[in-house]
Amino acid sequence: NGAAIIITPVAGRIGAKISGVKLSGELDSDTVKFIREALLKYKVVFFREQNHLDDQGQEAFAQLLGNPVVHPTVPAKGGTNYILELHSDHGGRANSWHTDVTFEAAYPKFSILRGVVIPVAGGDTVWANTATAYENLPTELQSLADQLWAVHTNAYDYAAKHTNVSAEAKKRHDEIFTSTIYETEHPVVHVHPETGERHLLLGHFVKNFIGLSSTDSAHLFSILQGHVTQLENTVRWKWKAGDVVIWDNRATQHYAVNDYGNAQRVVRRITIDGEVPISLDG
Ligand code: SIN
Repeated sequence: NGAAIIITPVAGRIGAKISGVKLSGELDSDTVKFIREALLKYKVVFFREQNHLDDQGQEAFAQLLGNPVVHPTVPAKGGTNYILELHSDHGGRANSWHTDVTFEAAYPKFSILRGVVIPVAGGDTVWANTATAYENLPTELQSLADQLWAVHTNAYDYAAKHTNVSAEAKKRHDEIFTSTIYETEHPVVHVHPETGERHLLLGHFVKNFIGLSSTDSAHLFSILQGHVTQLENTVRWKWKAGDVVIWDNRATQHYAVNDYGNAQRVVRRITIDGEVPISLDG
């Protein structure tokens, strides 16, 4: 690259901006190592001015972070191998707190999101740090969370259930989403395989906690999830077209703020395959 790489934290507990890097499939191994280490430390990293990247460039860069995987129920965007397009006109408004694809046993470790069309105002994304969420729980709630497992399912995928979409958008959603139902069980507290940190693993794919009724699960979910999304745990990013954001999906949840009405917002995501989460018992 030539330019000095500068890293600037964006919020107190999560998020850093990296400048001086031109993302591509050609990055040298030291730069990739630097990005990976920043990602593990800050959980989400932001890059401005990556307008040179097209879909193929994003795919080539993603391959430097691991093996890209297609979304289990949404086919890759035409002309690409791995890209999931979230288009506001087609119900792609992820305005519900989640970790990507946790309804799979081995869910993705990283997600790489590129801003393609960004509204003049609104359409920010917010990420939450699930390690500081756990760390700051009162000991009594930590002990409770330590013992819990949750069922995660896509039975009510957010794109259909959690957004206020038009009938036309709903129809298109139903056309592109396959109806395969996934369901899996994860520990509510997992140990990050690379940092050893403990994280709360929740988000909107949780159906219930094992051994608890749906009513008790809903109350308890709301208490624990409320700790994850506490503002002190979050960072909010105001997008520009050409931005690229990478998050550690094992360490975060995120929420796409749906405050831009009929303006258009298009972002493209690639996920990197991950492993089955490690429980406190190993
Ligand atoms: C996502 O949930 O992966 C997309 C987030 C966004 O649209 O900002």
